[in-house]
Amino acid sequence: MEWQVPLADLDYDEREEQAVLSVIRNRWLTMGAVTQEFEIAFANYTGVKHALAVSNATVALHLACLSLGIGPGDEVLVPSLTFVATANAVLYTGARVRFADIIGSDTLTISPEEIERLITPNTKAVLVMHYGGYPCRMPEILDIADRHGLAVIEDAAHAPGASLDGKALGTWGDIGCFSFFSNKNLSTGEGGMVVTNHDDLAEKIRLIRSHGMTSLTWDRHHGHAYSYDVVELGYNYRIDEIRSALGMVQLQKLTKNNERRKAITQSYWSAFEGKGFGLPFSKSNGIPSYHIFPLILPEGLDRKQFIDRMRAAGVQTSIHYPPVHLFQYYRKHYPDVSLPITENVASREVTLPLYPGMSEEKIDKVLESVMESARE
Ligand SMILES: Cc1ncc(COP(=O)(O)O)c(C=O)c1O
Repeated sequence: MEWQVPLADLDYDEREEQAVLSVIRNRWLTMGAVTQEFEIAFANYTGVKHALAVSNATVALHLACLSLGIGPGDEVLVPSLTFVATANAVLYTGARVRFADIIGSDTLTISPEEIERLITPNTKAVLVMHYGGYPCRMPEILDIADRHGLAVIEDAAHAPGASLDGKALGTWGDIGCFSFFSNKNLSTGEGGMVVTNHDDLAEKIRLIRSHGMTSLTWDRHHGHAYSYDVVELGYNYRIDEIRSALGMVQLQKLTKNNERRKAITQSYWSAFEGKGFGLPFSKSNGIPSYHIFPLILPEGLDRKQFIDRMRAAGVQTSIHYPPVHLFQYYRKHYPDVSLPITENVASREVTLPLYPGMSEEKIDKVLESVMESARE
C-alpha cells in the first residue's frame, strides 16, 4: 500500500551514495578503517571512552550481558513495554528476566520503585530502555543499583543524540546499546553500537564480538599480526565497512534531524493538548532524541477502529509496544506476570508518523486524520 504519510522515512541522499561507493572502490568490505573511524566519531559525539560497532542492537545487548558475566541463575530486571530484543538478549545468556512496570501513562519508562521491589539475591543487573529516546530516571536508578550492587545496562536503541543533565543516554550506566536499524534516528539498515567507560568491559566486548580472537583479518592484512589465539567463546557480531560508512554520514546529520523531530513532536503536542489524549513525555527532562511519537487514546475509544480509519486516510501508524510478557513464548515461561500500568497503556497506545523529512502538509494531514478518526 502507498501511504500518503508513512510512519518513518530515511534521510538518505548523495552523501550516503558516495560513502558506499567509496567503500566499494577501496575494496575492503569487512570491519576495518571506516569502522574504526565510525567508532571514534560515535565515542566523541556521545562523550564516552569506548564505542564498539556491531551487527545490530540485539547483539549489542547480548554482548553487554555476557561481558558483565550474566548467566544461568542470574536475574535481570527489564521493562515489558519495549521491543522483545531487550528481554531476548538476557534469555540468550541462560539468565531469567523479571518484568518491571512503567512509571505511568505520562512516563513510559521503567519505574524505579518497581526495580527496588523486584530485587532478589539473584538480581545481577537492571536493563533499562529509553522509550522513544526519552530519558529513564537515571539518577534514581543508579542510586538503587549502587545500593544493591547491580550493574546497569541501557537499551539506548531509540536514543542516539539524547542526553540528561548534559550526559548522553547510553553513558549513564555500565554499558549502553544503540540500534542503527532502518527506522532509527541514525540508520544503516542493520547495525548497532556498544558504549562503555570501563576498559575491562570494552576489551571483553571487543573479543566476544569476533569469536574471542586476539587479532582481526584487518590487522593481519596490514601486517600487524601473523596469527591469532582464541581466548573467549565469542560470536560473529561484527559490522561491515559499508554500514559504517553510512553511519558516518548519518552521524553528521543526527543533531539537525533530532531538532526537526523535536519541532514535529511539539506541533503534535500543541495540537492535541486538551483534546482528551494522553501525551507521554510532554513534560520530559533532558534532551530527548524524539524517536517516535506515542499517542495514548482516551479510555473507551476503539483502537482498532481508530487505526483502520487512519489507514483509510492514508496515514500509517504503529503500536509501541505489545508488552513482552504477553507474548505466547513469554507467557509460557513467565505465566504469572501482571503489570497493570504497562497493560493499560499498551492497549491504548498508537504511534504517529515522525521523521525529519516530514513536510508541513503531511503534519497537517496527520493532525486532521487523528481528530477525524477519534470521532465517535
Ligand atoms: C528498544 C529496542 N531495543 C532493541 C532493539 C533491537 O535493535 P536491532 O534491530 O538493531 O537488533 C530495537 C529495535 O527495533 C528496539 O527498538
